[in-house]
Amino acid sequence: MDKIRIHGGQALSGSIKISGSKNSALPILAATLLTREECIIHRVPDLSDTHSMLQILTHLGAQVERASGIVCVTAAKVNSVAPYDIVRKMRASVCVLGPLLGRCKEATVSMPGGCVIGDRPIDLHLKGFEALGAAVRVEGGNIKLFAPKLRGAVINLQGRFGPTVLGTDNVMMAAVLAEGTTVIDGAAQEPEVVDLANFLNKMGAKIDGAGTRRLIIEGVPELHGAEYEIIPDRIEAGTFLVAGAISGKRVIIKRAEPEHVRSVTDVLERCGFAIETEEDSISVLPNGAAQPLELSTEPYPGFPTDMQAQMCALLSTTEGRSVVRENIFPQRYMHVAELKRMGARMELDGATAVINGVDCLYGAPVMASDLRASAALVLAGLKADGVTEVSRVYHIDRGYEHLDEKLRELGADIERVRA
Ligand code: EPU
Repeated sequence: MDKIRIHGGQALSGSIKISGSKNSALPILAATLLTREECIIHRVPDLSDTHSMLQILTHLGAQVERASGIVCVTAAKVNSVAPYDIVRKMRASVCVLGPLLGRCKEATVSMPGGCVIGDRPIDLHLKGFEALGAAVRVEGGNIKLFAPKLRGAVINLQGRFGPTVLGTDNVMMAAVLAEGTTVIDGAAQEPEVVDLANFLNKMGAKIDGAGTRRLIIEGVPELHGAEYEIIPDRIEAGTFLVAGAISGKRVIIKRAEPEHVRSVTDVLERCGFAIETEEDSISVLPNGAAQPLELSTEPYPGFPTDMQAQMCALLSTTEGRSVVRENIFPQRYMHVAELKRMGARMELDGATAVINGVDCLYGAPVMASDLRASAALVLAGLKADGVTEVSRVYHIDRGYEHLDEKLRELGADIERVRA
């Protein structure tokens, strides 16, 4: 298995370009199943998760072509069964359920397994499908959906930990082809949900309210092909901003959407960094001594859970006592033990991490456990004295396009060591 090796202590400076959003690309690619016509999607990031999604689409009968960030999908005919072997690699495979139900009025998709960041149930997705008239069964490890007809309904998708992103996506994708009007209350407001709604509308769907807590969807009999460009990845953008903060002089991220990372730039400003924003670029630079802070993860527009681990890395070297509360995935703290191996002083109390900043982290062999935890270890390695080797790099490849190359462009001493 490949490793990432970092010689810490280099000051980063310069600019890099942000890739298309992974968490938009996955449901948008799944949504191409809703039409028999060709869809052309631009700015699809080159990641193992997008490759997995394309494999699933191919398995389901779609023709897929890919060249330098552009993916063409034609799903002239679709079969509605996605077995374990094909979906097990990626939890987000679950977002083919909605399009298959909408298009075929039936779907059999293997149930996603456990996940290192927490339990990750899909009860809200299934509740939404049932409200649209589908019979739902879980049998032999598979979710089976069947609906002679889908009918619009009023559905509340608010869960115990707030709204559900992929649940909102899934129910929206089934409802676009239902008869009548669907109202989704408690909808997720994340930019990736808005991106999917914009794509579906370009395919001929009638969705209003994307970006608010209430979506109103007028069902249409069919959708047509469309050409679409995916939004910039706000979590990749946030990760590079934290990289700049942790060890930068001045780091500029380009082709980003400043509004989508506002909660992250606000936190970095509170932490004592200067942020300069232009139309599609953001710079981060030091602005005096960094300050500790209290931080909670929240659904959008709050601070994203997908940036929590990276902020823990930054705060671990920020003098003083910081407190981080994880409100979306209370167990998402696999990075803590590894950061402690690098000298961080942090303690967990349930879903809260208390961090006492240290002057210096020390390079160490550490193990990536999930995508964002891995990014946090790389960021810590940039700052640490000595050599950090992050193993299980396949977690990083799931969600960051050429992370090591982009950091090298900024001056990091980082290399990928092939197994
Ligand atoms: N939840 C339920 N029932 C459900 C669905 C979710 O209780 O049926 C709970 C979850 O357990 C969690 C909360 O609701 O406590 C929010 O989960 P959500 O459904 O929004 O997560 P998701 O849609 O499965 C997406 C992203 C995650 C990101 C979360 C939260 C994709 C492919 N994944 O997951 O991204 O952390 O939203 O913003 O869009 C990542 O990129 O590293 C990643 C994990």
